[in-house]
Amino acid sequence: MIQKIALIPVDERLKAIGEAGYNTFLLKTKDIFLDMLTDSGVNAMSDNQFAGMLRADDAYAGSMTFYEFADAVKDVLGYKHVMNTHQGRAAEHLLAKVFIKSGDVVPTNYHFTTTKAHIELPGAAVMEIYYDDALKTESTNPFKGNMDPQKLRNIIKKYGKEKVAFVRMEATTNLIGGQPFSIANLKEIRRICDEHGLILVIDGSLICENAYLVMQREKEYQGKTVAEIVREICSVPDLFYMSGRKNTSVRGGFIATNNKELFDKIRPWLPVYEGFYTYGGMSMREIGAMAVGVREMVDPTVAGCSVEQIKYFVNRLVETQVPVVTPPGGLACHLDAMKFLPQIPQNQYPAGALSAALYIVSGIRSMERGTVSMDRDKEGKEVMADVELTRIALPRRVYSISHIEYAIDRINWLYKHRDLVRGLKFVWEPPVLRFFDGRLEPIGDWGRNLTEAFKKEVGNS
Ligand code: F0G
Repeated sequence: MIQKIALIPVDERLKAIGEAGYNTFLLKTKDIFLDMLTDSGVNAMSDNQFAGMLRADDAYAGSMTFYEFADAVKDVLGYKHVMNTHQGRAAEHLLAKVFIKSGDVVPTNYHFTTTKAHIELPGAAVMEIYYDDALKTESTNPFKGNMDPQKLRNIIKKYGKEKVAFVRMEATTNLIGGQPFSIANLKEIRRICDEHGLILVIDGSLICENAYLVMQREKEYQGKTVAEIVREICSVPDLFYMSGRKNTSVRGGFIATNNKELFDKIRPWLPVYEGFYTYGGMSMREIGAMAVGVREMVDPTVAGCSVEQIKYFVNRLVETQVPVVTPPGGLACHLDAMKFLPQIPQNQYPAGALSAALYIVSGIRSMERGTVSMDRDKEGKEVMADVELTRIALPRRVYSISHIEYAIDRINWLYKHRDLVRGLKFVWEPPVLRFFDGRLEPIGDWGRNLTEAFKKEVGNS
């Protein structure tokens, strides 16, 4: 779908980011030139998906559109049982409700923000058990999303298997820069879960990019199709869930499985929190689009479109020595804010400052993925993020290479003027998921200094 966009003058951008509390989530779209905040719910849907919306059977219960969707899930992912949820975090809520008790632990290759909140709210703890080099932003490791099997064994030994609510593997691990796991690693984790009778859950919100990268990077899978690899990944866990907002380009989510016993534990809670069994909090029209989206997402031109753009984007920035996460993964081009802005201590939120600075010089909206995205601990102390990333997302089928070239040009300009940027401090923060709604202000008038330098060298817009 086409939307009119405008590049407002830099003085107005400075005013807009000030009014947004230096938090790009709080900008208004009228002030944004390229919206690269996220790839969630902002992908371009296909003609057939729009047709699916128009054809949808809008019954409260028993809608045939739900059964079309369930058939697509069976054909593409291989699961017999599926329930919709209003989005990915609602699936996480239901899993937490059924499987997590206070004092439990949830080992994961890396948490996602909403996942962490749903694990911690009932009193459990997230155990991040990536390989040590997963947090090295500049790397040649093709599978930084792998889980370290030895660390998993240690956790099971330390806490006892009855305390492990489930083991969670996230595809194209979001917060460490869209990095995939290998299927060999996934299968090894499966074997450990089997040895101890543990439930394995896959968060497949970015499953297609993970499969596409497996196709390119894991020897045994070269020559296989994305569809075959997705099917193989899905054959491994006990439970699978995803936000449909990314891969299926539809605002919704679902939980799917072949384990009827587990499914039946979750199902009674669906009408309590989401909606009746055949719509689960989604509109039937979106389920109609999702029924098509699930089939289309394994097409390599869909699964690979953002991956290929990100590869181009990242490699062009590597040429000019801008610090970015390598190897390029899925979802976004990620700037390493601690290397980009070494003058800013972590408790002054370098990734948040970089995101705001990038908006000022370009009108591009990116997202902070660092300490602002971590909530305070129980004592109210800051929890420093493992990495400080400014995420410049590439929604699917939305931007062209010339948009990316524009972004590269402005990032390069900002990199040359990085000394002008300083840190941020919170003026208001909510108690949970503070990055969404928290308000910050610059330490010193660096937004103004950056704006003046920009006007002198580049001009008004
Ligand atoms: N899991 C992963 C890996 C995600 O990336 C997201 C959302 C969710 C769960 C939650 O799904 O938004 O449908 O409720 N990621 C979005 C992002 C918000 O911008 O990366 P949701």
